[in-house]
Amino acid sequence: TPKKIALIVGSARKASINRILAKALVKLADPSLQFQDIRIDDLPIYNGDLEDNRPETVNRFTSEVAACDAVLIVMPEHNRSLPALLKNAIDWGSKPADANVWRDKPTAICGASPGAIGTAVGQQHLRQILGILGATVMGGETYISFKPGLIDDDYQVTNASTREFLSAMLNKFSTLIQKLT
Ligand code: FNR
Repeated sequence: TPKKIALIVGSARKASINRILAKALVKLADPSLQFQDIRIDDLPIYNGDLEDNRPETVNRFTSEVAACDAVLIVMPEHNRSLPALLKNAIDWGSKPADANVWRDKPTAICGASPGAIGTAVGQQHLRQILGILGATVMGGETYISFKPGLIDDDYQVTNASTREFLSAMLNKFSTLIQKLT
């Protein structure tokens, strides 16, 4: 059965290599995985004073994530951690605790960086946070060393072994989602 996947990209940059990777993943995935792009760059910085009357963008964000079967996060690494943009969205989604949108969500993490081990350490931080919030984070690691031309203008992964690696990750995620939802 088709599954709805919340696609969250941890960079708001127009030319983001993680956005490019996300688009390539959507193209590579089985059609049974229906991705929904979830915007996070219009969320205000978390402030408890806003809780009495949550901004419309925050309500939109939490209801969109809650309505999905699973979450795919594609993120850069900032100073060996997750970008503040993404942490802010995670914080909004975690409150109030009884409406935490991350709990029990099958979640996969991946990321791209120009560097060789780029995003591996940041992913460890993200995994820790999502574990605390009760998400079911898929095992394994998917960090892509992004070189010009790795993904072409049509969002095709040009390198065969990288393409197979990403396909295998998506298939494993699909199996996990079918098991858990
Ligand atoms: C970076 N970058 C980076 N790269 C990396 O592999 N490890 C790191 O810890 C960091 N730290 C870092 C901090 C800050 C504040 C910035 C702005 C950048 C480089 C980063 O991988 C590069 O800018 C990517 O292009 C960011 O991803 P997007 O925005 O292209 O998706």
